[in-house]
Amino acid sequence: MTAENTYQIANTILSEPRMERLYHAARELFRPMDRAAHNWEHVERVILNSVAVGVPENADMSIVMAATILHDLGYVTNPEDPPNHPINGAERCYEHLGEWTPADREAIAQCIMKHKGAYPGYSFFPETLEEQVVCDADQLDKFGWVGFIQMVKVYVEHGFKGRAPYHTLAGIAEGMTHLNAIEFYTRTARDLAADRTEPDTQAVAEAFRNELRFYEEWNRP
Ligand SMILES: [Fe+2]
Ligand SMILES: [Fe+2]
Repeated sequence: MTAENTYQIANTILSEPRMERLYHAARELFRPMDRAAHNWEHVERVILNSVAVGVPENADMSIVMAATILHDLGYVTNPEDPPNHPINGAERCYEHLGEWTPADREAIAQCIMKHKGAYPGYSFFPETLEEQVVCDADQLDKFGWVGFIQMVKVYVEHGFKGRAPYHTLAGIAEGMTHLNAIEFYTRTARDLAADRTEPDTQAVAEAFRNELRFYEEWNRP
């Protein structure tokens, strides 16, 4: 799918009145947040990723798009509880989905709850195609140069609050090695990630660690 096709399909899906209302309402929720990484810019990238993955996979985009728009809602509702943002967002999404059927609301909540997939520290695994597409679209934002810089911004966001292991450079080096542990559920996402061959995060992590060793081996007074 070309970039132009992706933009066109995304805009068509977002022009449905209830989806347009949801998109604008969510954007307003994210606007006042002072987050380096889990901000509206990230949500918009995941929206495009979800179209690039979900359309070729024939997913129900009315579920995927709504879930993608709200996937990081937990950062808005419970800003002090990032580790549980998938659960918090899944609990609170219902109040934004009055125009969806009860069954669709439930499907969207499940997508939000399972959007971390098998990422270290999480254990709600996506099962339906729509859950897998939302998860893959979010994980794709960790690939390539965009993903690499976004990963550093995630460490800045959490490290700024003094949270381990995000607050040290060694923590960032460790985070780089996690990028290799990401598994995709759909073939389309796997192919898109395979196109993003740079940077070699393992090589960068190793070089970064080698430099850091000089500072770490200091026997401090
Ligand atoms: Fe998330
Ligand atoms: Fe996300």
